[in-house]
Amino acid sequence: MAYKIAVIAGDGIGPEVIAEAVKMLKHVRSDIEFEEALVGGAAYDATGHPLPETTLDLCRSADAVLLGAVGGPKWDQIPDPKLRPEVGALLPLRSELNLYANVRPAKAFGALVDASPVKLGPAGIDLIVMRELTGGIYFGEPRERREGGNYAVDSMVYRRSEVERIAQRAFDVARTRHRRIVSVDKANVLETSRLWREVVDEMAQGNPDVNVSHMLVDNCAMQLVRDPSQFDVILTENMFGDILSDEAAMITGSLGLLPSASLGDPKAGTVFGMYEPIHGSAPDIAGQNRANPIAAIMSAAMLLQYTCDDTASSQRIEAAVEAVLQKGIRTSDIAGTSEPVGTRQMGDAILAALE
Ligand code: IPM
Ligand code: MG
Repeated sequence: MAYKIAVIAGDGIGPEVIAEAVKMLKHVRSDIEFEEALVGGAAYDATGHPLPETTLDLCRSADAVLLGAVGGPKWDQIPDPKLRPEVGALLPLRSELNLYANVRPAKAFGALVDASPVKLGPAGIDLIVMRELTGGIYFGEPRERREGGNYAVDSMVYRRSEVERIAQRAFDVARTRHRRIVSVDKANVLETSRLWREVVDEMAQGNPDVNVSHMLVDNCAMQLVRDPSQFDVILTENMFGDILSDEAAMITGSLGLLPSASLGDPKAGTVFGMYEPIHGSAPDIAGQNRANPIAAIMSAAMLLQYTCDDTASSQRIEAAVEAVLQKGIRTSDIAGTSEPVGTRQMGDAILAALE
């Protein structure tokens, strides 16, 4: 087998949507081996920890990880944050696997442009947020409480090398698109942002084929709503990327249909990555064959593109999804007044369109 994929479906609708994504991968390639493991609340219930060592080991030994979703109200009240699915599984997966480059495409599906909450111009929205994922305020030290709990500190920390490597990935991605990077920071206030801007400027000199400009994060939040078509690649640090990627996703009108990739260092035509839908575990509809599998299926398409370097299969899946949406086939989240289909039926329709 050429590729081994760790399948960690997680909680809520995770297992249902991931099953459909695996169906697509099996259809387009015969050289992928799948191995399953527990993560999130499911792992907590079974083992007492949301990220068991065996799961982490499986991920380390794989070429890619396919993740469904973690968390749910059932585990929100766990007193120790490190045992809650989001903080105890997601963040350590990112840092332990060195997945520093988070790729979040925000592209409106043609059939769904009217679902955008903003009036999209003819150019629509088709951008990628390149979010730094293992540094900044999410991981900086010190982070603690003092003075009997009445003083709290988080630290935003960046090293030059961390900025360099994510910027390099943004240049790589920009070259596959329109070669325009907007680097987003808060350089009028933050020291980390001044370093960020300095490093990105230096790298722009060495990459003259890519157009690089800078934007302050508050302005970027505004520009996204005003005219999202001005953006091609947005390069930014961890927390700004968290916020801006939600905003961009919402503007597509396809929130809930979007995938993401978290990538490590590339080597020899392949790259280790963790692929997951941006939506959550939706516990209210879990187990009812109602969830929309498109985000998970698009995540599988990203896996093909980045880990397998198989752009052709990736584009085939994307085209099949678009074709099914054009036909008016909808799961209940996007059905409007039309009769919705179930999770498996949506998967089957996309599979049929792949033929
Ligand atoms: C995301 C999520 C996570 C983040 C949470 C669940 C820790 O919001 O992937 O965007 O903040 O990174
Ligand atoms: Mg987020």
